[in-house]
Amino acid sequence: MAQQVQGVIAPGKNEPVRVETIVIPDPGPGEAVVKIQACGVCHTDLHYKQGGINDEFPFLLGHEAAGVVESVGEGVTDVAPGDFVVLNWRAVCGQCRACLRGRPWYCFDTHNAKQKMTLLDGTELSPALGIGAFAEKTLVASGQCTKVDPEVSPAVAGLLGCGVMAGIGAAINTGQVGRGDSVAVIGCGGVGDAAIAGARLAGAAKIIAVDIDDRKLETAKKMGATHTVNSRSTDPVEAIRALTDGNGADVVIEAVGRPETYQQAFYARDLAGTVVLVGVPTPDMKLELPLLDVFGRGGSLKSSWYGDCLPSRDFPMLVDLHQQGRLDLAAFVTETIGLGDIEQAFARMHDGDVLRSVVVF
Ligand code: APR
Ligand code: ZN
Ligand code: ZN
Repeated sequence: MAQQVQGVIAPGKNEPVRVETIVIPDPGPGEAVVKIQACGVCHTDLHYKQGGINDEFPFLLGHEAAGVVESVGEGVTDVAPGDFVVLNWRAVCGQCRACLRGRPWYCFDTHNAKQKMTLLDGTELSPALGIGAFAEKTLVASGQCTKVDPEVSPAVAGLLGCGVMAGIGAAINTGQVGRGDSVAVIGCGGVGDAAIAGARLAGAAKIIAVDIDDRKLETAKKMGATHTVNSRSTDPVEAIRALTDGNGADVVIEAVGRPETYQQAFYARDLAGTVVLVGVPTPDMKLELPLLDVFGRGGSLKSSWYGDCLPSRDFPMLVDLHQQGRLDLAAFVTETIGLGDIEQAFARMHDGDVLRSVVVF
């Protein structure tokens, strides 16, 4: 039997979001219905509302979520009703060239639930990042569900579904930060702060936080930054070199998404160091570098896609580290809110006042 729940939709470009009744079909083959317990508010939800991702309105927003599996469809064996899970953007196929070569985050054949959730009048909804979790329940592909320790707070667990994983993964998976490394992180929003937490977890000796906003640098210190640089008043490349005996950092993580910060990241790394690009540029942006510098400085330039994470490997591990007190994921939760408070949360996020507002049910 299809069921009706409350969810938050973005009805049209730049129109205010609103709580509506959503119809959720019974899970079909390979699908699961998840009772959502918490879902973080992310910049990407705001981009959907603004029409910046695509124009497939109405969207069912929300994608950084944790909850309990309520029911599963035919053939589902990876999760069962009652399992506590964190949701990820897409189920990977496990069989394509990317999956078989150990890079499932570049899977060619990822999928979400095949059936559609709708409004009461039958209008089909586009779930944000294939999830749609600003709702009491949502329908996903079972492969989008990863079981984690059910003792963890849902508000904390849900964050692993997106921004926090992107940042931690940029440091530990893509950047391969090692014990004793020097790491610089340019841009200390939620993603940059998570990269700082990831670098600390990996045993970095120096973690240099760079931002143009002193408030962000204060938070970065709490996440594990050992040094801070305000790049509005100081040249960050010079400052990072000065803090690393003139060499530059072993790993530089760019978490802004602008040409000037991409360039700073390129020059702030040690010879043969690694640059990890997490900030998402817009289509018009270009980066010009002297080829001789690209050739002569060696090292590698990598982009990090969803923290190059493998949800089944990384989500349970990071939850365990949090539960053991070795990674403070709770520090990313600035406030918990209700389903009706998302517009105000967008405004606070835009003003840079919060790391994460999390809707709890
Ligand atoms: N130099 C340094 N820091 C900057 C600059 C700059 N020129 N411009 C902006 N910043 C800082 C902001 O002050 C803010 O602290 O970058 C940070 C960006 O943080 P958020 O806006 O909170 O964004 P976040 O969610 O962390 O995502 C960062 O990563 O995954 C991508 O799409 C995401 O491109 C975005 C980036
Ligand atoms: Zn695949
Ligand atoms: Zn997100």
